[in-house]
Amino acid sequence: MKQILMAIGCLLYVGSAAAASEGEYMAKVSDCVACHTAEGGQPMAGGKKFPTPVGDIYATNITPDKTSGIGNYSYDDFEKAVRQGIAKDGHALYPAMPYPSYAKMTDKDIHALYDYFMHEVPASAAKNKESDIPWLLSARWPLHVWNWLFVDEVQAAKPVTHVDKNDALLARGAYLVEGPGHCGACHTPRGVTMQEKAYDASSDIYLSGATIDGWYAPSLRNISMSQDELKDLLRMGRSQHNAISGPMSEVITQSTQYLTDNDMDAISFYLLSFNHKVAAAAAATPVAADGSLTYKPTDGKTLYSMYCSTCHGDDGKGKDFTVPTLVNNALVTAKDPSSLISVISQGAETPQTHGNISFKMPAYKNVMSKEEMNNVVNYVRGSWGNNAENNTGK
Ligand code: HEC
Ligand code: HEC
Ligand code: HEC
Repeated sequence: MKQILMAIGCLLYVGSAAAASEGEYMAKVSDCVACHTAEGGQPMAGGKKFPTPVGDIYATNITPDKTSGIGNYSYDDFEKAVRQGIAKDGHALYPAMPYPSYAKMTDKDIHALYDYFMHEVPASAAKNKESDIPWLLSARWPLHVWNWLFVDEVQAAKPVTHVDKNDALLARGAYLVEGPGHCGACHTPRGVTMQEKAYDASSDIYLSGATIDGWYAPSLRNISMSQDELKDLLRMGRSQHNAISGPMSEVITQSTQYLTDNDMDAISFYLLSFNHKVAAAAAATPVAADGSLTYKPTDGKTLYSMYCSTCHGDDGKGKDFTVPTLVNNALVTAKDPSSLISVISQGAETPQTHGNISFKMPAYKNVMSKEEMNNVVNYVRGSWGNNAENNTGK
């Protein structure tokens, strides 16, 4: 009998290891386990300590145990805690719980998370620890004020609207980084009351670097690596030229290593998009008082890996039936490069025909300077065996 049970156990184990549920995946992307697990403790059973300037607080047990955990939370209770920072009994949660970021999560993702917590996370009876904050300071009502002052604007699951909706990859990247990924919790500077100074890319402060528990989480607005290197870093904690240490290691082991290929593309694409915003701003005023060029345009190869390789591939070959190859492509190698320039500048779209969906290429006219556009044009005209002559950009 015991053996049969063990055999069934193994089968179940193999089954669950094979396919993570949607909710389990979202829990990884949101890294709930990082905070809700004590060192050596049962996952999600709480107890991890968060030092604050006024005393220590402890993350709570969020397993489905009905007395110690959140087993009695309805979906609405859960949604309120995760997106609005309000516990079932109505008290405001300390902002160590990154609900201002989770506020951006879609209903669908919150539902998936709820199902995962109620049905897949093993219950634990571990009791919650009281905070060490003196009782007067621990009164939670000031947190409602905090919410009111700083967080209300980003609440109500605002869809991410400040990015070009047409660019699905960029939108997905923004959603993951600004929402569930809560990367700003460490990489965005905090103000006097510990609120993050910005929660999305519409502000220049967002992800501009911050010190946290003796570690500096650097600015993610001018990452100087190729998209492939960045992906390696978030997948493995190391890349050809870089390696990760400190609190970011945990983010990688518990969260970003599990990203699907598409989500990894989206996050890296979104993060590197900050570079061209900086570049575009610089391009607007490229000449110093003495007439020298203060802004050095990015070279074609780097631009290609930032903006094009996700879809067209490092080898320029694209993807069968979705993204065209640029190798030995007539439009690319044409004597007159006008079409090539127009495609990059204005974007393009495959026609939608019966039974075939249409694929879009984004427009780059607002993200690259003229010189940069020219650099990338010359890069694709001169790579992978394409032998077209350089365009002078005149
Ligand atoms: C950066 C750390 C951090 C992360 C990440 C985090 N939490 Fe929390 N969470 C906390 C802390 C700390 C508390 C307790 C706050 C308090 O007591 O005021 C908390 C409280 C909660 C509560 C209220 C529980 C109760 O006992 O009433 C819920 C529910 C919750 N978290 C769910 C989640 C879920 C789901 C995720 C992932 C989507 C998550 N948390 C990710 C730190 C975190
Ligand atoms: C718990 C705090 C924390 C969170 C959350 C966090 N980071 Fe980090 N991150 C750091 C620290 C600290 C470093 C610096 C350590 C190092 O580079 O070795 C860092 C470094 C990085 C680097 C390397 C930067 C460079 O130029 O070398 C990247 C890229 C990065 N983080 C991306 C992210 C992304 C994407 C997210 C959200 C999914 C995220 N981080 C969430 C703390 C954090
Ligand atoms: C989000 C995916 C995506 C990105 C990023 C992307 N493209 Fe495209 N590209 C496409 C798709 C899809 C098409 C096909 C559009 C069509 O059929 O009109 C295309 C078409 C092209 C074409 C026309 C090829 C032909 O034979 O008609 C060129 C040239 C091109 N892209 C170059 C680039 C360059 C250079 C970059 C970077 C600056 C880039 N693309 C970025 C998806 C992308």
